[in-house]
Amino acid sequence: MNSPQKPATADKYTITAALPYTNGPVHIGHLAGVYVPADIYARYQRLQNKDVAFICGSDEHGVAITLKAKKEGITPQEVVDKYHAIIKKSFEDFGISFDNYSRTSAEIHHKTASEFFRKMYDAGQFIEEVTEQLFDAEANQFLADRFVVGTCPKCGFEEAYGDQCEKCGTSHNATDLINPRSVISGNKPVLKETKHWFLPLENYEDFLKQWILVDHKKDWKTNVLGQCKSWLDDGLRPRAVTRDLDWGIPVPVKGADGKVLYVWFDAPIGYISSTKEWAEREGKNWEDYWKDENTKLLHFIGKDNIVFHCIIFPAMLKAEGSYILPTNVPANEFLNLEGNKISTSKNWAVWLHEYLEDFSNQQDVLRYALTANAPETKDNDFTWADFQARNNNELVAIFGNFINRVMVLTDKYYEGIIPEPATFSEVDEQTLAELKAYPEVIASSLERYRFREAQAELMNVARLGNKYLADEEPWKTIKIDEERTKTVMYVALQIASALAVLSEPFLPFTSQKLKEMLGHAALVEALSWNDISTKPELLKPGHKINKAELLFSKIEDEQIENQLNKLKQTKMENTENKEKIASAEASQVTPQKETIQYDDFAKLDLRVGTIIEAEKMPKADKLLVLKIDTGIDVRTIVSGIAESFKPEEIIGKKVTVLANLAPRALRGVESQGMILMTENADGKLVFVNPGEDGVENGATIN
Ligand code: MF3
Ligand code: ZN
Repeated sequence: MNSPQKPATADKYTITAALPYTNGPVHIGHLAGVYVPADIYARYQRLQNKDVAFICGSDEHGVAITLKAKKEGITPQEVVDKYHAIIKKSFEDFGISFDNYSRTSAEIHHKTASEFFRKMYDAGQFIEEVTEQLFDAEANQFLADRFVVGTCPKCGFEEAYGDQCEKCGTSHNATDLINPRSVISGNKPVLKETKHWFLPLENYEDFLKQWILVDHKKDWKTNVLGQCKSWLDDGLRPRAVTRDLDWGIPVPVKGADGKVLYVWFDAPIGYISSTKEWAEREGKNWEDYWKDENTKLLHFIGKDNIVFHCIIFPAMLKAEGSYILPTNVPANEFLNLEGNKISTSKNWAVWLHEYLEDFSNQQDVLRYALTANAPETKDNDFTWADFQARNNNELVAIFGNFINRVMVLTDKYYEGIIPEPATFSEVDEQTLAELKAYPEVIASSLERYRFREAQAELMNVARLGNKYLADEEPWKTIKIDEERTKTVMYVALQIASALAVLSEPFLPFTSQKLKEMLGHAALVEALSWNDISTKPELLKPGHKINKAELLFSKIEDEQIENQLNKLKQTKMENTENKEKIASAEASQVTPQKETIQYDDFAKLDLRVGTIIEAEKMPKADKLLVLKIDTGIDVRTIVSGIAESFKPEEIIGKKVTVLANLAPRALRGVESQGMILMTENADGKLVFVNPGEDGVENGATIN
């Protein structure tokens, strides 16, 4: 097919989509948040004859990869090779029209990222400092990023990572975490000294405030501005851009053995290296796409990536000095699935590669449903019922129905040849005028990153066609007025042709099919976006269209039930796993304590005793006040067992007493010793019973 000629001075767009981590396949959350809107936008700008570089690739470094490798018992390289292949293929099959899909393990990326770091290093833009970092003594490993979780200092979320809280989006240093725990061993980390390079973000605060909160106050999305403002108001601090890890890009300076670049330092540079790879292949100059002030740089991302694309990467670009800054960062919120948060580890997701198997050749249905529910301003929910309804009630019933009528009637009345229209009625003129207004209407939504609105307007074009046919009833006029029928079919064919072009960004497979059906390839020039408004006619009389094909087909209940059953299965497996983990934890034996000498033990005065009285401590849920006959005396012991025993059921029980424990007041009652307890398999407290009957109170235990 002919592609529209780009004017030599066409605006350049560098459109990036977040590089997916290769620790798992891509799911509908990624698609709705990032890849579908980015693809719609890139396709739309190409139809506007803009010079587009749509850039992506796999994010293959970072602790996420190392953890996955540990879990699967393979090497990090094997992990990234496996998922890079799955992700790349599924994007291709889904019609995401990247101009280049690279990977951060590529040599060109290692080189580009190293040079970037080196340039900043040579210009003295890092602080080199030995600081204390979290360390897992048992695993002999520094706990960077996802190797450690703890409570977020900003929002209190208890599962925040070392570098970022996924709940509130804040990025922090691992040492800021409250109550940190090693993901490797579960242990509490210790602090250990190590040297790192820090980016002094505070030096960029004024620049960032001006650039984001003033210069882009009007054109950036409110959710993005809101997050940025909150961090800038809190004040920025130095961030380490290197790590003590063995998976990543080696820090390119002397004395940095065993250290790699922080994954969030190298990954965004991946956009640049992927552009270089593309430019080399296509004989272009990559710098036109990164260093020309007229080029528009756009980052499509999910909300958890905002801090990196709006604060850290721009600070890096600014520091390096030769790059343009993003024009916009249209970040989306999150998509949930059937009411629950999508989770890779819990397998609560619709995986793209599985969708493509289960719904072969129905890529556009998913694209449509995801855009219709795009989480543009708030989190949204994907349900299979909605997916089915969107297909059956909208794609089939509105879009498909209109095209089908046009194709069938043209074939039946004119053997597929576009008829010559007679005079246009007022309705015809009005309909054509309305049609010509749509490119502008849809474009205005797209330019403001309102994809759901844009897609809804596209469907209005199909509605316009349906209404026109229903009102003009060519199937009736054919019997009485051939000339009128020709005019009506001519107009309807123009609408169908416009739909073929305007649907391309949203429904590329459908658009392609429709163009084939309408014989667009035979046109002198491929139609571009604005041709719909400016060309007097899109299909000329005498042009022959091809055989009709079905654009959409009904999705049956059974298919939806299958998908829901899959999710049910996942839910069951998750519950089983949880129970297994819980019982494994319950049956886990606590590791042995440090060795002690006999003398340490001999200091303990352990006696056999009997509980002779028991009552609840007033206003304390856990405490019982016991009177114990120790053989030496009758004494009071306060014991934290009230949740496990009723006072009356323990009177007369033989127990083991630590008799020489220093007395201590609990709620004003002096406790003179301690009763030894253990837990049974169900986690219930039980007494350490001092053996056979006939053992007397006061007998020593040694
Ligand atoms: N891999 C990251 C994620 O999935 C995104 C990286 S975007 C880039 O959250 F800018 F670093 F490339
Ligand atoms: Zn938080």
